[in-house]
Amino acid sequence: MVGLENKAVLKLLLLYLFIQFSVTCGNFFPPFNVTYDHRALIIDGKRRMLISGGIHYPRATPQMWPDLIAKSKEGGADAIESYTFWNGHEPVKGQYNFEGRFDLVKFVKLVGDSGLYFLLRIGPYVCAEWNFGGFPVWLRDIPGIEFRTDNEPFKREMQRFVTKIVDLMREEKLFSWQGGPIILLQIENEYGNMEGSYGQKGKEYVKWAANMALGLGAGVPWVMCKQTDAPDDIIDTCNNYYCDGYKPNSPNKPTIWTEDWDGWYTTWGGRLPHRPVEDLAFAVARFFQRGGSLMNYYMYFGGTNFGRTSGGPFYITSYDYDAPIDEYGLLSEPKWGHLKDLHAAIKLCEPALVAADSPQYMKLGPNQEAHVYWENAQSTGLNSSLSESQSTCSAFLANIDEHNTATVTFRGKSYSLPPWSVSILPDCSNLAFNTAKVGAQTAMKVVEYASSPKISAPELVMTKNEASSITESWMSVKEPIGTWSENNFTVQGMLEHLKVTKDESDYLWHMTRIYVSDDDIAFWEENQVSPTLVIDSMRDVLRVFINGKLIGSITGHWVKVVQPIQFQQGYNDLILLSQTVGLQNYGAFLEKDGAGFRGQTKLTGFKNGDIDLSKASWIYQVGLKGEFQKIFTVEENEKAGWTELKLDSTPSTFTWYKAYFDSPDGSEPVALDLGSMGKGQAWVNGHHIGRYWNLTAPKDGCPNSCNYRGAYGSNKCMTNCGKPTQTWYHVPRSWLQESNNLLVIFEETGGNPFEISVKLRESRIICAQMSESHYPPLDQWLNPDVIDGKFSINDIKPQIRLQCEDGHIISSIEFASYGTPHGSCQNFSEGNCHSPNSLSVVSKACEGRNSCSVEVSNSGLGGDPCRGVLKTLAVEARCVSSSTIGVSQF
Ligand code: GAL
Repeated sequence: MVGLENKAVLKLLLLYLFIQFSVTCGNFFPPFNVTYDHRALIIDGKRRMLISGGIHYPRATPQMWPDLIAKSKEGGADAIESYTFWNGHEPVKGQYNFEGRFDLVKFVKLVGDSGLYFLLRIGPYVCAEWNFGGFPVWLRDIPGIEFRTDNEPFKREMQRFVTKIVDLMREEKLFSWQGGPIILLQIENEYGNMEGSYGQKGKEYVKWAANMALGLGAGVPWVMCKQTDAPDDIIDTCNNYYCDGYKPNSPNKPTIWTEDWDGWYTTWGGRLPHRPVEDLAFAVARFFQRGGSLMNYYMYFGGTNFGRTSGGPFYITSYDYDAPIDEYGLLSEPKWGHLKDLHAAIKLCEPALVAADSPQYMKLGPNQEAHVYWENAQSTGLNSSLSESQSTCSAFLANIDEHNTATVTFRGKSYSLPPWSVSILPDCSNLAFNTAKVGAQTAMKVVEYASSPKISAPELVMTKNEASSITESWMSVKEPIGTWSENNFTVQGMLEHLKVTKDESDYLWHMTRIYVSDDDIAFWEENQVSPTLVIDSMRDVLRVFINGKLIGSITGHWVKVVQPIQFQQGYNDLILLSQTVGLQNYGAFLEKDGAGFRGQTKLTGFKNGDIDLSKASWIYQVGLKGEFQKIFTVEENEKAGWTELKLDSTPSTFTWYKAYFDSPDGSEPVALDLGSMGKGQAWVNGHHIGRYWNLTAPKDGCPNSCNYRGAYGSNKCMTNCGKPTQTWYHVPRSWLQESNNLLVIFEETGGNPFEISVKLRESRIICAQMSESHYPPLDQWLNPDVIDGKFSINDIKPQIRLQCEDGHIISSIEFASYGTPHGSCQNFSEGNCHSPNSLSVVSKACEGRNSCSVEVSNSGLGGDPCRGVLKTLAVEARCVSSSTIGVSQF
């Protein structure tokens, strides 16, 4: 018999054991299982509809992670998705790196801490516009290796790395059944696109990869994306701009969208991609409408390709991606806010979405359709035996007509559906959200330096007067052209670039000596020809020097080189500098791709015929002297013989520059403006902020206005035509100290360092615009009085919501008009109808606050300025840092 006292002790003991258990099993969640059926992932026994945000941890700093995760959660994400980056984690074979930006464990734990799930895509091939698709370059050197096929050396290495990651996650108790956040894993990446190139061995490899992954005992489901022949136990998933028609390869698997491309990447000299949020929201809503269950934004935050992590060929340092959170960690509006509303609307439908095995389809018109989900599974139609009040339903009404609004009747009610839109009715009756109607209540404008005119006009987020220029004093030192160290070596013949550099540097010098006789010179003069350097094929950049002078530069991806050369009589030094600008990250046979030169290299036009340089004796030198001396670090920079740079000095090629700068006040993200420079790399306090290159996008190809209607492709709605692709380079705050920050630049082509400046990135102006007929705030659906039926959701008026970034407040309302205002952000004007109270009502509600809401109704705005007219409220507000005006945030 257990006495009362003993019972209490027992209880305490059980409590203690439970706490111990939770601690040892990870303390993010009570341990839970993840399985799936044809409809959805089943998390702890329940089907779930899940929204996920893609964030690649090394594309931000650990100091940025908590804010990015918090913004994802606030935006409505249930999960964070990331690849792992093999070449970052194992830069040298057998030497692992899980520190700093590569601290995967810390990142996953932060996600768990915030109560979000984690989707881990191990790959280990990841594509991702990441150098070499994530493969370590040393992998190429393993004898007999062939990547991504039925090849023993490759499989051995792949298995070792995947096992390493799975074991690490298990040791750290990060899987769901251990109380961790990881609910899903991915093996390989879009192998289906490549499989054909590998024949039968490709098929074998898919089976092997699947079995290998399943054999690791991770205890959560695995996916393969774009893999129509994924084996039974692996879920094949969709990557695309739209995935609403996607069906996995078995009726037992749920429909999962691992990459919803909400923007795109870009190349040096390219335009900037922009995907309008109305179309993105349409794609997401259509996915859930037609039976999808998990969608991940690729990317929710794109970030920055710091260092030389950018893939290629030619991908820029920024990986902004036009994602809902911009490169600097600021909200990209109205993308973030509109999607937040969309997510809230989908969540309101979740009980019905998970309850139904499949939706009820109803054609509403030639291009209009509804999908209806009944919460009570038995009640699948109006004639059900259950009364409607006993079963709730949610519906999605789509108008896929690109041009016309359609009026449809659904369950006895009439709805007006804008073109290319989905309306979400969580109760099958009232409109919670329409993908084409951007609810401006969250429309805080953080605008890129170029924007599509359809989106509200740009606010220049970085201004000169706020920049702290680095004018103090610049020092410089020339990089030697050609050999600079004893570890150069001479070889007969042309070596493949990566075999020599091992990608430890972008640069590979090749030097040879050419003898030119009097006869040759006479021959060229007589025939009016000049000798020419011809290379069958090269990538990415080649610079040609004769006797120490730069005479030509060629840029391209496996292009032919035909470079005329002026030789002098006697011996001439011919130097070829081959450069990579991001290794190939996509395609079959990556191990064979290499870099530098292919085919024959020769000099044509000599009197005695061509000179075959492929067989010549070449001196090779890897990298730059400054790079290998690490003169960009605080500790080593004095090693270089710096001299002071004169203000009037002419732009110089192959030159190192250094200067010191103070960190700008405040907490806003910092950018370096390198618009005055040519091409090179930059470091701040020894941190490599990336490659820079001042190449301008073509003048044409950006529409005056971006029409979101109709299928999106990455060339639609481009911005930034005629402007340099990238001039601003993110310098994370955590890499800066208050003063004396060391900036080191390596410049190849010549620029003016005196014009380099440090700038702040801010959301200065926020705008919102909303009609009185707009739908009510999404959170009002959860208002207890609405749930209890005390009043109808329809009785709740729409609300404009303004919010500055954290640490900022609304300092002034620049414009407010309730009536029939015209124009768009920064360009508003009053219309015929205007309430004189507008400004005072909005100012009173908003000024001095970080965020505010204003009801868009006659009563909210002090009376009806014009009866019988549909009125709109348009507001423009200015945000300032709360510290600059000494007001605390409230
Ligand atoms: C996908 C790939 C991603 C990324 C994307 C383009 O095909 O899986 O890793 O490269 O394309 O941004």
